[in-house]
Amino acid sequence: MPGEHDAIENLLAESRTFPPPPEFTAEANVSDPSVYDEAAEDLERFWEREASQFHWYREWDSVLHWEPPVAQWFLNGTTNITHNCLDRHVESGGGEKVAFHWEGEPGDTRTITYSALLRDVCKAANVLKRLGIETGDRVAIYMPMIPEIIVAMLACARIGAPHTVVFGGFSADALVDRIHDCGAKLIITADGGWRRGQVTDLKGAADQAFDDAPTVDMKLVVKRTGHDIAWDDDQDIWWHEAMDAADEQCDPVEVDSEHMLYLLYTSGTTGKPKGIKHTTGGYMVGTASTHRWVFDIKPEDVYWCAADVGWVTGHSYIVYGPLLNHTTSVMYEGTPDFPDKDRWWDIIERYGVSILYCAPTAIRMFMKWGDEYPGSRDLSSLRLLGTVGEPINPEAWMWYRQVIGGDRCPIVDTWWQTETGTIMISPLPGLTTTKPGSATFPLPGVDADVVDDTGESVPLGHGGYLVLRKPWPAMLRGIYGDDERYYETYWSRFPGCYFAGDGAKRDEEGYLWLLGRVDDVMNVSGHRISTTEVESALVEHDAVAEAAVVGRLDAVTGQAVAAFVVLRSGVDGTDAMLDELRSHVAERIGPFAKPKSIVFTPDLPKTRSGKIMRRLLRDISEDRQLGDVTTLANADIVAEISDKATTSPGED
Ligand code: WTA
Repeated sequence: MPGEHDAIENLLAESRTFPPPPEFTAEANVSDPSVYDEAAEDLERFWEREASQFHWYREWDSVLHWEPPVAQWFLNGTTNITHNCLDRHVESGGGEKVAFHWEGEPGDTRTITYSALLRDVCKAANVLKRLGIETGDRVAIYMPMIPEIIVAMLACARIGAPHTVVFGGFSADALVDRIHDCGAKLIITADGGWRRGQVTDLKGAADQAFDDAPTVDMKLVVKRTGHDIAWDDDQDIWWHEAMDAADEQCDPVEVDSEHMLYLLYTSGTTGKPKGIKHTTGGYMVGTASTHRWVFDIKPEDVYWCAADVGWVTGHSYIVYGPLLNHTTSVMYEGTPDFPDKDRWWDIIERYGVSILYCAPTAIRMFMKWGDEYPGSRDLSSLRLLGTVGEPINPEAWMWYRQVIGGDRCPIVDTWWQTETGTIMISPLPGLTTTKPGSATFPLPGVDADVVDDTGESVPLGHGGYLVLRKPWPAMLRGIYGDDERYYETYWSRFPGCYFAGDGAKRDEEGYLWLLGRVDDVMNVSGHRISTTEVESALVEHDAVAEAAVVGRLDAVTGQAVAAFVVLRSGVDGTDAMLDELRSHVAERIGPFAKPKSIVFTPDLPKTRSGKIMRRLLRDISEDRQLGDVTTLANADIVAEISDKATTSPGED
């Protein structure tokens, strides 16, 4: 169990550093380090200044009311986030700027300007109103990566109806659970979307959700693929028909700063997903500011956040942050290997993408596919790279920098969560000297600390639990319908502090190294070892494409390190390779961290958002009955790994 021992050991020594290029700093949105002090000295004034750039119908009376764990920001201020995302730019002459260069997987494209987006959002908001949706009603959105998903979200926000986007990869059951929890009245879906040449069956799942969830009155269906779907006039409405009939004018509804903007479900330690609640004013200010600072957004940038809109990264950094900043974005519907493994690099070349933001898991996959795919494209338009979602191992970081960034682009490794709403720990690209694998420092206004079991800050060079000591504007306002769980999960472990559930270490220079969830920390013979650090050591080896490490119960040492390794193509999983990898880990970290078993596998079990299911690997390692694996992106691999694990040649 986490929390019973002291500091996580300081295991890997990474000595490479990358100062920001002077020419980048010269032009950067943030180039004066005094911003950190300003925010620390007067947090409220700092955020008030950020907030004043927006349109408010009524100014706030006070900036912050903080009674842990309840925060309210910009009290009694009223606004509408879509006015700030759209009308504000159109009214000041920026309507013709492209909001999205959208590309479908089959190669069809759409170019959507701010004026066009505003018009569609107004029409869609009128459609919602005609369907009886009122301010405060919840709307479920279950759609592929098509422009209409953004229109749908903004249409909800326009009338103050909180949206809950359910990632299109979730099953019907997962959709039903979420709809039940929030009591959504409407589902907005599509007749499918394209993924690796296949059509995803969203409508079938939406139909099942409709049958199982009595709160839902209607389904609004976008025609994306033209595939045959079941249709029932009593419950289904075509989006395009409703839009054609809708008026183009729709005044935004003035809502309170603390009005719920959306719910987004995320998994916790229990089976029941948590509906993370985000509100309007603080979230608006937080997403816009962090997006402008971290991605150094300039009017001429072409920005591509390659996440799915269904995750928080998509909410904050595809939809709200970029639109608030009048950014031109790229949005892509499909998979990176369709029709070939160079699709992303082709997109970057064709649209002249200048900023790319993606997940380490994607980067490692690209590494595995080989340098020839990015190598065949012109990536010289790129000027800044970002990562999010999991710790990035130094080797993947270096590959990203060298092969994708041409050794010239700063990398921002951004740590945050569904709960935080915005990036919390990240380099500022014009200011921060980066180290491969470190998310570096908290952003201005963020008070992050690393503490031990008793809540005491650990000295430099040590590890512990990541906490946030001060409230921030985009922070979650609770778990929908479960105040008790909100308090228990985040605020009870270290009173007065937000407990993120992540382990971190701070090196001698104060750099933060995120070590993954604390329940992924192993304890081997009294040594606390992060799964991330062992994985990182493994992936660093030339033969390894990807690795996952779990701690499994061991009668002698408490836990033992169990590794699952995907080798690069052309490398054989021989006994000699096994020994070599074990020695390599011993060499990089210490003999105590040597994997006791290594299973070579062609793939790792992953959720549809790309996170490795370590819990499942732990179950396999410990020979336990496997739970439900149907939400995995690649469920087939589980049986294959289980077979191999039981005959693993890696056992001592
Ligand atoms: C992990 C995604 C290390 C972390 C925005 C966190 C990271 C969880 C990083 C939240 C990073 C996210 N380095 N770990 N840069 N970014 N994480 O809610 O464990 O999907 O608690 O939000 O991802 O995942 P979520």
